[in-house]
Amino acid sequence: MYVCYKSLLPYLKPYTVKVILAIGLCIPIGALDSVIAMSLKPYTDTVLMNNAEKNIFFVPILIVLFAIVQGILNYFATYLNASVGEKITRDIKHDLYKKMLLQDSVFFDKQKSGDIINKFNIHADNASAGLLSKMKMLVSRIFSSISLVCVLIYNSPQLSLIAVIILGVAFLPLSKIRKKIRDITKSVTNGLAGLVTEYNESYSGNKTVAAYNLQNYQEKKFLTSLNQLTSKKIKLSQKTAWISPMMHVIVSVGIGLSIAYGSYKISLGHMTSGNFVSFLTALILLYNPVKSMGNNVKEFQLSMVAVEHVLKTLNIKPSIANKKNAIKLLGFKERIELEHVNFGYKKKQTILSDISLTINKGETVALVGGSGGGKTTIANIILRFYDIASGSVKIDGIDIREYTLDSLRKNISVVFQDNFLFNGTIKDNIMLGRKNATIQDVQKAAEMACLNEFLGSLPDGLDTYIGERGVLLSGGQKQRVAIARAFLKDAPIVILDEATSALDNKSEEVVQKALENLMQDKTVIVIAHRLSTIRNADKIAVIDKGKILEVGKHDELMNKESGQYRMLYEKQFKK
Ligand SMILES: Nc1ncnc2c1ncn2[C@@H]1O[C@H](COP(=O)(O)OP(=O)(O)OP(=O)(O)O)[C@@H](O)[C@H]1O
Ligand SMILES: [Mg+2]
Repeated sequence: MYVCYKSLLPYLKPYTVKVILAIGLCIPIGALDSVIAMSLKPYTDTVLMNNAEKNIFFVPILIVLFAIVQGILNYFATYLNASVGEKITRDIKHDLYKKMLLQDSVFFDKQKSGDIINKFNIHADNASAGLLSKMKMLVSRIFSSISLVCVLIYNSPQLSLIAVIILGVAFLPLSKIRKKIRDITKSVTNGLAGLVTEYNESYSGNKTVAAYNLQNYQEKKFLTSLNQLTSKKIKLSQKTAWISPMMHVIVSVGIGLSIAYGSYKISLGHMTSGNFVSFLTALILLYNPVKSMGNNVKEFQLSMVAVEHVLKTLNIKPSIANKKNAIKLLGFKERIELEHVNFGYKKKQTILSDISLTINKGETVALVGGSGGGKTTIANIILRFYDIASGSVKIDGIDIREYTLDSLRKNISVVFQDNFLFNGTIKDNIMLGRKNATIQDVQKAAEMACLNEFLGSLPDGLDTYIGERGVLLSGGQKQRVAIARAFLKDAPIVILDEATSALDNKSEEVVQKALENLMQDKTVIVIAHRLSTIRNADKIAVIDKGKILEVGKHDELMNKESGQYRMLYEKQFKK
């Protein structure tokens, strides 16, 4: 526990003064708890027992005055705590988000969207909410307890001993169930992540849900997760609900014993009524927080689990990162070489085997072949979304793992098979290609991507809002926005992944023109299903089941009697 919180200490550092002040304020706030108890001794002995009427208001006024002081201090402490707490939450979330952005594809492949939100957002809230408010509670409780124990001892050392021993007994059950609560808390948080994934899938897949009438199916899936979560939560309450009553009973035993023993001492004349009243009040105040400990333990475990998760997340090391002395790829000069590349997305899996291919500067190399053959995978490894198992991918004679990731990717423009557009306008999305581009550059890119006719039909033109994931655009329009984005990036290497497969003939023509513009004077790796579009490629590689079957120009490959390319081509031509 201590180690856990200690690792979060760096987050407190920028706010040291405020944190010390906020925690420091808790000392008098806690200590002032004993004022009532302490003042009851003289009040009972001198005012009540001796009927000293002229002092009747003195102690009550004093109690109210101290309460006001305590209230004011409490306000400042709570405010400071909240403002520092929010800032710490912000800092942790900021770091977590940065961490998330640096993760590699392997990491994202494994996560559900709910896990991402949990890991990088919700845990941060729980962790830092716990951090400060618990610290504040702890410090004020400690000082409250110290001052109240002082009052107890002042009034009767003997009785104090009994009271403190019982207090110790009251804490025993807590230590027993902590681990159990923690395990359930963990599975509750996982259950929450599952729910977020359900929400997200129903949202992103709303059209599929509607088209296949999956409402009932989705609902059942959701309900199953929800029911599991609910029963876990109920179980958590079941495991914790008995703590408070149990402590209440133990504490009552303590109070009962004290009253009995105290009365006995008064009757012997070993204690004044004032001592007794003061003692009892201090005891009740001391025991009070103990009784609510059950809930605190639950909350505390929640934040402990969150802290653990946050630390774990902050420590994730992406498997694809810059090497220690990574160099910058400053412009592309000669060639891309794949040499005996073997690769699988998982260990012991073979998706690419012994792939060797050279792409010289200025060439257009086409990858063709059946679905699932590994064409997109080749693009993925050149972009270093994944690292290969053996062999090498070199650019200008140097293994791409020697280059910094950002310089490598800076030199490559990609139009994906499935392009992602961000919430915002067309212009925003094109500008992602080059953030400091001028409006003229953006217009040029849009023109080259054959978007002008479409833009002309829109009242807001480039400033048209396209919705989350670009849902307000057609498939071809989305693709052309992605092409404009790649065009604006103006990288020397261009990777096009099957950018024409999802379109009808007319939009294909437009997109094809846009692609030709994008490919001009670049080194291009184009993955195409429509073989008519790559007839002029400098090299065509036929990929099947992760292997290269043939490489050559269109005419060369067509001249092979029973060549794979020729078969593919004739099949398509017949269609
Ligand atoms: N992220 C991934 N994790 C695990 N396996 C994957 C992943 N992406 C692709 N695969 C698998 O790798 C193999 C090659 O996929 P790839 O996407 O490279 O095929 P492709 O040639 O581009 O096919 P298509 O023409 O249909 O786009 C497939 O069997 C696929 O199931
Ligand atoms: Mg593909």
